[in-house]
Amino acid sequence: MAIQKVGIVGFGQMGSGIAQVCAMAGLDVLAREIDQKFIDNGMKRVDGSLARVVKSGKLSEADAKAARGRLRGTTSLAEFADRDLVIEAVIEVMDAKREVFGELDRVCPASTIFASNTSSLTIIEIASATKRPDRFAGLHFFNPPVMMQLVEVVRALTTSDATVDALRDFVTRLGHQPVVCKDTPGFIVNRLMIPIMLESVRALEQGVATVEDIDKAVKLGLRHPMGPFELIDYTGVDINYHVANVFFEEFKEPKWAPPALLKRMYLAGHLGVKTGRGFYEYDESGKKVRAAQ
Ligand code: 3HC
Repeated sequence: MAIQKVGIVGFGQMGSGIAQVCAMAGLDVLAREIDQKFIDNGMKRVDGSLARVVKSGKLSEADAKAARGRLRGTTSLAEFADRDLVIEAVIEVMDAKREVFGELDRVCPASTIFASNTSSLTIIEIASATKRPDRFAGLHFFNPPVMMQLVEVVRALTTSDATVDALRDFVTRLGHQPVVCKDTPGFIVNRLMIPIMLESVRALEQGVATVEDIDKAVKLGLRHPMGPFELIDYTGVDINYHVANVFFEEFKEPKWAPPALLKRMYLAGHLGVKTGRGFYEYDESGKKVRAAQ
């Protein structure tokens, strides 16, 4: 049976974006956060994004309103018993994810499919917190989910063919494009993208060029929509630092080790757009002002 009711756990930047995409596709969406204030913040993000989609002429006011009406928040996982699919997008900490799925496993019927939006953690390690590792997979969206068409469907060693097929079909119904890959570090995109990010930081450390010129070179020379420093600031210095650490742990190769500058920026709280300062400085609306000194 096709997935109709979706649960989203974690209503941050990714969770709220995924919830919005599902609601825009006509699905009933229930999003859980640990505190009402995080639900309110997420709803504000969805409202802002829906307004942009309407302004672009890709969605009517009425359809945006209907999509918003299909989305509601809760602070309780106990309400997830009627969900066909649950997508988790909480903090990238293994214990936190295992705890969420352990609880969901007790609440949801055997038929509910579980998916994690993790960008770096091992799917099978999360899945083993449940009694349904065959109905468990990775579903990796890209930021911002409403604009980024790709979704990686990650097949763990235990994921059944039926689960992969259901998720591929689900992604297609969202109007997105699925690719299927194995449960290996970084899946496809981050495995290829993170080395570019890390090498850009090393090039900056070595004085090869300025932040602006490295970004300009990548945008004009490779036709990427954002330069590596713009993209690190956009996705978050903390996320990139964390992902590099996970890869380094897994591969034990120096090329994956987070550069010293990235670590220090993380420790300083210079996390990018969300804190107003990363490799660039940003105004309150998140608009880039200048390269950070
Ligand atoms: N919601 C709704 N609409 C949005 C939006 C959002 N969050 N963000 C951008 N848009 C729309 C704008 O309204 C605008 O619409 P218009 O053309 O009709 O006016 C259009 O997108 C273009 O936006 P902007 O003019 O503001 O800026 P850009 O042209 O630079 O586009 C971007 C913004 C789509 C984010 C583009 O820069 C881009 O594609 N960047 C690359 C993003 C990327 O690589 N993401 C992957 C990150 S890696 C990841 O997520 C993996 C994780 O594991 C780390």
